[in-house]
Amino acid sequence: MKSVLDFKARKGKGRISMSTAYAHWEARFLAASPVDCVLVGDSVATVVDGEPTTFATTPEIMARHTAAVARGLAGSKFIIADFPFLAVRKGIVAAVECASLLMRAGAHAVKIEGIDGHEDVVRHLVQSGVPVIGHLGLTPQSVNALGGYKVQGKTDASAADLLRQARAVEAAGASGLVIECIPAELARDITEALTLPVIGIGAGPHTDGQVLVFHDMLGLNPGFSAKFVRTFADGNKTVSSGLAAFAEAVADGSFPSKKESY
Ligand code: KIV
Repeated sequence: MKSVLDFKARKGKGRISMSTAYAHWEARFLAASPVDCVLVGDSVATVVDGEPTTFATTPEIMARHTAAVARGLAGSKFIIADFPFLAVRKGIVAAVECASLLMRAGAHAVKIEGIDGHEDVVRHLVQSGVPVIGHLGLTPQSVNALGGYKVQGKTDASAADLLRQARAVEAAGASGLVIECIPAELARDITEALTLPVIGIGAGPHTDGQVLVFHDMLGLNPGFSAKFVRTFADGNKTVSSGLAAFAEAVADGSFPSKKESY
């Protein structure tokens, strides 16, 4: 999958796999993998920089990571880059500047959290030729308003409101939607209600695809666990044993060998 057109064409035609990436080396692994598409997530703040929230990212930081990922993918995958904290709330000019940085860094689409109050900005970006992916449910940039990282849409009223917002994302011209941490039945209703691909994270099995954070799915995020994360590789064990073996080989003098010396 190399473009937003490929992405949209997959609705109802086979589940879409999406991974985050923040760096060139991760992107090179992804380029050689069957994973369909890549999100340069603002989770870079928490996963890579150890921040408590995603607030620390800026358009410039996101553009730098997007450029590194785009170089690693070398045209092989569809790339979505996150609009950072509040970038969509500073008006159309600031949003266009942010989109300009991300697209010029190599993104093929931008992801924007929420919809209420910035439908016009999303519409303007779409009309400017910038594909937009929505993000609803547990939107980490609103963690304070949501009272923590909690499952959303659990009551009838909040479920109905999320369905309304999902329709508003589609009406604003978005090309897809990420829904995070909502009940599986609500995710199915949203997926069936939209003609856009709906990608879930912590949203059960009935969406058009799944996204996971690279480090979480590969066991490279020691100390982090969540009900919705499956670790598909024991990266923690592999990395830890590699580091221990390196330190031991240095200590016992077996590294570097003659072959490894000039
Ligand atoms: O930044 C991110 O990693 C995300 C995913 C959780 C969807 O937005």
